[in-house]
Amino acid sequence: MNVPDSVSAALADRDVAGRVCLEAGAGVGNATAGLLSAGAEHVYAVTDRADHADGVRERFPDEDRLELIEADLRELALPDDSVDVITAHALFNVLPNDAAAPIAAELSRVAAPGATLVVDDYDPMPPDSPVRQLFAVENAAAELANARAALTFYPDDGLRRLFGGHGWEHDRTTSILEPVPWSEGHLTAHTAEVRGYAGSLPDPIGKPLVNEAERLAKATKRSDEGRMYSVAMTLPE
Ligand SMILES: C[S@@+](CC[C@H](N)C(=O)[O-])C[C@H]1O[C@@H](n2cnc3c(N)ncnc32)[C@H](O)[C@@H]1O
Repeated sequence: MNVPDSVSAALADRDVAGRVCLEAGAGVGNATAGLLSAGAEHVYAVTDRADHADGVRERFPDEDRLELIEADLRELALPDDSVDVITAHALFNVLPNDAAAPIAAELSRVAAPGATLVVDDYDPMPPDSPVRQLFAVENAAAELANARAALTFYPDDGLRRLFGGHGWEHDRTTSILEPVPWSEGHLTAHTAEVRGYAGSLPDPIGKPLVNEAERLAKATKRSDEGRMYSVAMTLPE
């Protein structure tokens, strides 16, 4: 099973074998791969996008320990106290910031006493970083199109405190990817996001945003910068 090094590093000191797990924000299934490979008894992989659910199903054909759930993480059709291990790998940076608190509450509701939580995300990058500037253009376009930013980069202690408010006790914080290799593919994908938002804006507003995103992506090409961290927490018995 192809498990990225960042996921392996985040799960290396966690007890996953034989446990009921939930991956919050299935994406392309990288953390799901890590949980399955670490011997999870059952993995709920939750995403609100049907194309992501289909992709993860295709990535793990015939895997009877895996259950894809297409749902909003703010409202899971799972009982209280029913999950032993929760991962949120690169989820929080893609959430509109009004979603972070209700998702933390819902994940805490389904977590069993003694559960483990692993939240992996990216440090905020400095304002002069060209990658951050591209993300800023994406957020500007998203705000104008939807009145919501597309990306929010939380410092590790911000997410730790968010979950601390639900009783989670901090276990450890560690670096799992440093520097982060922001590839040409990443920058192209974020430029495409800007194009998508700009499509719903009047041309005099949308076109300059697309031009600026294209300029930044072309000038940057790729960049190795920033850090991905992993915060592990435990819910008291
Ligand atoms: C960047 S991907 C995460 C990567 C993934 N964890 C992995 O290891 O491959 C973010 C995922 O979270 C999902 N997502 C974002 N907001 C959500 C929400 N409110 N409810 C459910 N899924 C959500 C997205 O659709 C996407 O599948």
